[in-house]
Amino acid sequence: MAGNWTPASWTAHEGRHLPRYPDAAALGAVTERLTSFPPLVFAGEARALKADLAQVAQGKGFLLQGGDCAESFAEFHPNNIRDTFRVLLQMAVVLTFASKQPVIKVGRMAGQFAKPRSAPTEVQDGVELPSYLGDNINGIEFTPEARIPDPQRLLQAYSQSAATLNLLRAFAGGGYANLRQVHQWTLDYMGRSPWADRFAVTADKIGEALDFMEACGVDPRTVPQLQGTSFYTSHEALHLAYEQAMTRQDSLTGDWYDTSAHMLWVGDRTRFEGSAHVEFLRGVGNPLGMKCGPSLTPDALLLLLDTLNPAREAGRITLISRFGDDKVEAGLPPLVRAVQREGHPAVWSCDPMHGNVIKADSGFKTRPFDRILAEVKGFFAVHRAEGTHAGGIHVEMTGQDVTECVGGAVAITDAALADRYHTHCDPRLNAAQSLELAFLLADMLNLERGHRASAEAA
Ligand code: PEP
Ligand code: CO
Repeated sequence: MAGNWTPASWTAHEGRHLPRYPDAAALGAVTERLTSFPPLVFAGEARALKADLAQVAQGKGFLLQGGDCAESFAEFHPNNIRDTFRVLLQMAVVLTFASKQPVIKVGRMAGQFAKPRSAPTEVQDGVELPSYLGDNINGIEFTPEARIPDPQRLLQAYSQSAATLNLLRAFAGGGYANLRQVHQWTLDYMGRSPWADRFAVTADKIGEALDFMEACGVDPRTVPQLQGTSFYTSHEALHLAYEQAMTRQDSLTGDWYDTSAHMLWVGDRTRFEGSAHVEFLRGVGNPLGMKCGPSLTPDALLLLLDTLNPAREAGRITLISRFGDDKVEAGLPPLVRAVQREGHPAVWSCDPMHGNVIKADSGFKTRPFDRILAEVKGFFAVHRAEGTHAGGIHVEMTGQDVTECVGGAVAITDAALADRYHTHCDPRLNAAQSLELAFLLADMLNLERGHRASAEAA
């Protein structure tokens, strides 16, 4: 257990991007209620994810982490949950099939509400108001009332997270994720993407493999891995009062776990040494993510690893690099080398979203698909050169047919961005773009596998 730590010890540290509530007593009443609510996840599940990630850290497996930039109360609908879940399943099938490695599925779902913003206020038509901070804090409407942080929103966020997680668990274990269903996962509007045909081919091959196994006497109906899947949840542990309220002592081990999600990560803007966010996360037993952007030096990274993973436990830390397509090949190698040199076990994952935001001529914030792909390629190239495992991908995506990122095979143009631009924060890949990315990633993973096999043979 972390020394000198309590679930509240973060309050003595510098906390950036934390909301300021006008009525501290009202916030206290809400967090007090939350401490008596059921945990959303069980510590044993967080340990299972950590064990899966430990395998990835050792070069066996791949982490697929994805979902909304910001979940919202307005988009809360079973169809949205189902569609994002099934695109993640499709991506996982494509990646597993190509790489012949297990793919660990983690949603940015069931709790991903709070957002760090680049500016504390927003100006529209000469009017300045506090920025929108996520539906669990204030409202997105541009009115003074909506922008006041309201603690009651935390209760709604908790209940939405619980219901979302309940449906995800049902899908993952109740038959929806059965590999025999793989053809049924294709969404209607994916028909327009050439990648939908490639998915159908993969689905046929999986069907044949299942038929073959059945003929050999392996009944897929009795093999749990073919019946369902493991699906985990994650979000940025930004709203520390909420995370503290959800933190419980595990009755089996006595260790503390943040039971709001299986995996929590610390964002690029709050991961400085000594921050309240780092202090909070160092004491919980969950697997952790840490965003690594251009401002992170190798020394600062090593210090953070000593704080967050002093026992050097494999699976504890996933380093999520987010440099931008033009910076990854220069910025990432010094970090990878430092981590290798010090012998810290880590999963390296690539977030090709947050370093590649541009403002389109139309005025929309977007991310060009080509740049997303270029950052992923750069990430793989770095790991190949360093002899380390490109272990995962972290994407903002949705199962909906939105028009938020330009490019892709069903080319979204700048002019089309206005058609279905629904995100509450950053632009997401739509279903077709997500599947396309999975196929391109699968090719890269296949190449990595080939290089590793020849290196081992040599
Ligand atoms: C995010 O993942 O939504 C985010 C804010 O990322 P970062 O901390 O890398 O900027
Ligand atoms: Co984002």
